[in-house]
Amino acid sequence: MTNTTEKTSAVATDTRSKKDYSNYFQSAYQPPSLKDAKKRGKEAVKVLTDFNIPENLVNIGVGKKFYIRTYGCQMNEHDTEVMAGILTEMGYTATVSVDDADLVLLNTCAIRENAENKVFGELGHLKTAKANNPNLLLGVCGCMSQEESVVNKILKTYQNVDMIFGTHNIHRLPQIIENALFSKEMVVEVWSKEGDIVENLPRVRKGNVKGWVNIMYGCDKFCTYCIVPYTRGKERSRRPEDIIEEVRHLARNGYKEVTLLGQNVNAYGKDFTDIQYGLGDLMDEIRKIDIPRIRFTTSHPRDFDDRLIEVLAHQGNIVEHIHLPVQHGNSDVLKLMARKYTRESYLELVAKIKAAIPDAALTSDIIVGFPNETDEQFEETISLVKEVEFDAAYTFIYSPRDGTPAAKMEDNVPLEVKKERLQRLNAVLNDISLKKNKAYIGKIVEVLVEGESRKNADVLTGHSGANKVVNFAGPKHLIGEIVKVRITDAKTWNLGGEWIEEKAEVAN
Ligand code: 5AD
Ligand code: SF4
Repeated sequence: MTNTTEKTSAVATDTRSKKDYSNYFQSAYQPPSLKDAKKRGKEAVKVLTDFNIPENLVNIGVGKKFYIRTYGCQMNEHDTEVMAGILTEMGYTATVSVDDADLVLLNTCAIRENAENKVFGELGHLKTAKANNPNLLLGVCGCMSQEESVVNKILKTYQNVDMIFGTHNIHRLPQIIENALFSKEMVVEVWSKEGDIVENLPRVRKGNVKGWVNIMYGCDKFCTYCIVPYTRGKERSRRPEDIIEEVRHLARNGYKEVTLLGQNVNAYGKDFTDIQYGLGDLMDEIRKIDIPRIRFTTSHPRDFDDRLIEVLAHQGNIVEHIHLPVQHGNSDVLKLMARKYTRESYLELVAKIKAAIPDAALTSDIIVGFPNETDEQFEETISLVKEVEFDAAYTFIYSPRDGTPAAKMEDNVPLEVKKERLQRLNAVLNDISLKKNKAYIGKIVEVLVEGESRKNADVLTGHSGANKVVNFAGPKHLIGEIVKVRITDAKTWNLGGEWIEEKAEVAN
């Protein structure tokens, strides 16, 4: 547990005077600016490889425990693994409970208002934890920290927070913790810059079967509703050799599945100035690595090119699942969203993908209730969903995000109408999911077994290549393996089946 003795001993190892420290803390107050975060300059992306933990901080966590709560997308899951890696190198150990933690980090999501409200609710709960343990260090990081309004609200209302740091400051975690331990003020270090790439960060991965591999950071698409380009900086691609080495490393260590990650993976490589190299080229190299499964997410329809389709069509270890957010079915709304494609061009892309990969499962993200969405426009979303027949989709009611262009648009659609539209859309999607799942009955699919089912410990659960949840009875030693399952039962959200040991033709 954190105590003042540890604080003092760490100060003693540092040679700076008290006066030096006061300046140091002042400079650590760096609040975010959405205006700065919006800028996109011509400066080349810097790849930094000089991460190290200052000597005086290497043991600062010995005997202490950390707990990280992760909200939102896979990018946050990935960042949490990096923070866990840094903290482990500082001597901290992980705990699964806030109650015995000395350091709690909330890795937040800013994508919609309700995601933010969850975090504010948690900060409220943590007031008690902090009252019970005054030495508890509480930090807020992730996308919400990049928003001025959030930082101001925390400064005003949640004095129990010790540190706020941004998505570009993760590699500074040791110094931020040091500041927080020795400062009486809340430490705020949020850089609103376009971002660099830091290559040599440590990592503690969750599990040893499925691994995230980041291929690019940031987003330059600036869809008018979305806060991500402001919170995550500009599009910047990792060098292919670094990515390939990471995938090889996971393969050597027995991982069965790798998911290549980025906010907009189809823009991969567009920022390289010395090579012409895109996602298709990268996937073409990665598919030759001896690892059973490769996924990638998230795709933007606009940058999804023929080269990529050609590579995906080889299949092999590239799974037959493509997440292709459409957001809306009406071209005028797509224009207002600045998606830069039309209903027709999206449908053409889907037709091309289906022709090249007939068994591809397509999933999507869809927003209802964008400002002034008419009934007719909403009907076009419904008709697009029926035409494409998505296997599944994440659906959202539009949520205005401060600082984005859409948040300034007048909106004449009442919330009740938006809720009705969401329900109707979900009903249509569910019917299609059930129909598509029923078509699997009698087929044999490969399942990566992830563990016991939450509802029934006698049942194992995992995902098929097409990303369907498959439940079946089988021995526990199958966990972590890819096995064949004959589908016997289909529901809206999952498939049920029988484990088969003999070699059989795979049909998913
Ligand atoms: N309101 C509602 N949904 C949003 N998304 C992004 N921004 C918003 C917003 N302001 C959705 C998009 C995106 C997914 C990750 O979240 O559908 O693809
Ligand atoms: Fe947001 Fe659009 Fe970028 Fe996706 S592509 S992260 S929706 S701005």
